[in-house]
Amino acid sequence: MIPHGALHFHPNTANRPATIMVHELPDPHWPTREAAAQSRLFSPVELGPVRASTRSWVPAMVPWRATEEGEVTQDVVDWYGRFADGRPGVLVVEATGIRDIPSGPLLRIGHDRFLPGLRRLVDEVRRRSGGETRLFIQLIDFLSIRRRPEPEKYFRRFLQLHPAHREGLRVWTQDDRWAKASDDEVREGIWRAGESAWSAILDDREWEDLQFGARQRVWDMHVPEIAELPAVLPTLFAQAAQRAESAGFDGVELHYAHAYTMASFLSRQNDRPDGYGGLPEARVRLPLEVYERVRDVVSPKLAVGCRFLSDEVIQGGSRIEDACFYAEAFAQAGMDFLSVSKGGKFEDAKQPKVGEAAYPYTGPSGLECMPTVRMESTPFGRNLPLVRQIRDRVHAAGCATPVVGAGGIATFAQAEAALVAGDCDLVGAARQSLADPDWWLKMRNGRGEAVRRCIFTNYCEGLDQKHKQVTCQLWDREFERPDPGGGEPKRSHDGKRRLVPAPDEGSKP
Ligand SMILES: Cc1cc2nc3c(=O)[nH]c(=O)nc-3n(C[C@H](O)[C@H](O)[C@H](O)COP(=O)(O)O)c2cc1C
Ligand code: SF4
Repeated sequence: MIPHGALHFHPNTANRPATIMVHELPDPHWPTREAAAQSRLFSPVELGPVRASTRSWVPAMVPWRATEEGEVTQDVVDWYGRFADGRPGVLVVEATGIRDIPSGPLLRIGHDRFLPGLRRLVDEVRRRSGGETRLFIQLIDFLSIRRRPEPEKYFRRFLQLHPAHREGLRVWTQDDRWAKASDDEVREGIWRAGESAWSAILDDREWEDLQFGARQRVWDMHVPEIAELPAVLPTLFAQAAQRAESAGFDGVELHYAHAYTMASFLSRQNDRPDGYGGLPEARVRLPLEVYERVRDVVSPKLAVGCRFLSDEVIQGGSRIEDACFYAEAFAQAGMDFLSVSKGGKFEDAKQPKVGEAAYPYTGPSGLECMPTVRMESTPFGRNLPLVRQIRDRVHAAGCATPVVGAGGIATFAQAEAALVAGDCDLVGAARQSLADPDWWLKMRNGRGEAVRRCIFTNYCEGLDQKHKQVTCQLWDREFERPDPGGGEPKRSHDGKRRLVPAPDEGSKP
């Protein structure tokens, strides 16, 4: 028998491009106050039942400030309050877990006990934006991913032994004694045989579990809780959306993007045989069922939309044609907005160190999700051509669902050009808003030259990767200035970084 794991390929071997080129920040062409007032960027837009006062959008960003139990902390409230100071049209609260299961310091909404904290967050955003900013929350489900194991532990505890392993060891060692050895002896034997033997004896999935940490897939139909996802997720999302509404949010963004459960249903890789995988019509079925259940249980006043990918940017993944098909289906189902991201997958992530978990933004697809100045072609607005195709398809289907574009947008000129050209209806700027939450207001006030500009080198993303409190490297230049509340700047756990940027005295609305 030829051991089935004889040749292992992981797309991570196709690493990030070797070319390192530092792109200059685009010329901002900051507007005068009058030009801003007449711009499309600062004109209102309807998102179904919700009117945003401007077309400016701060996409979801996880800041790692919740408690270990997923509760809102004062730091979470301060974080969103600080974004509200800049009065974006829409501010989206970070990916928030819909289940009532331990998930570390990731915000959660899987039980009513989370409501008081979420209400405090809503109140703060209302207060600090003068009631202007519409507040949405991103609802996420994710599957289990384990840390990369110590090989010894993996072979002794995690590997599910089956006859092929025993046979593989027998062939590798040319020793027939393994046929009658105990399971524990076989485990020990494989472990001691070393890495070349492991590569030959394990199948592809086991090899990946060993090298990267075990990660569930939505097509693992042999796992009962995975097989049951279509039965449980609509209710879980619907309950979370009801809670969001009762906490006072204006909208919910169903997280159908990046490396998580719903995006995996949409993926071309999804070959579930139960009517929820295979053809695009089947892959989009659960995302539509989730949306419909959510819409059924919330009031007509709540905006409901989703974030999904224009391209997964992985081998065998969904492409723009799939995204256009999904966009049409979502728009026709009645979603109130479509927010478009790109990439951010586990499949091409870098191998984590032993004891750490893979992070879906470390490979080429991650770079597309959060493009940096150190990439081959320009990081600025690079998702917009795909966003445009999605919007065109939505319009061709007779719908006018607003489409949000994001990815390397950080100037007035870029934002306005994208809106005027019809690439998108709202402009998302995550890292630029992180670098300077006041930048929207500065532009509106004709104070563009005071904008602290993101330099797109992803210091913030590096912190996110380590699940450390996310901050911007540029904030620390103002280390001594007081916090927005007027007190000593609050510092990160390591004491070295500001937790929110200093206030901008010139940015009074
Ligand atoms: C620290 C950090 C955390 C993020 N967390 C989320 C998240 O929770 N949900 C999400 O959809 N995208 C998340 N993103 C991706 C951003 O929303 C955005 O799509 C990406 O940064 C590209 O936009 P930008 O170029 O304007 O930054 C995160 C990005 C950063 C930098
Ligand atoms: S840390 Fe760097 S990439 Fe992140 S927001 Fe600040 S300047 Fe931009």
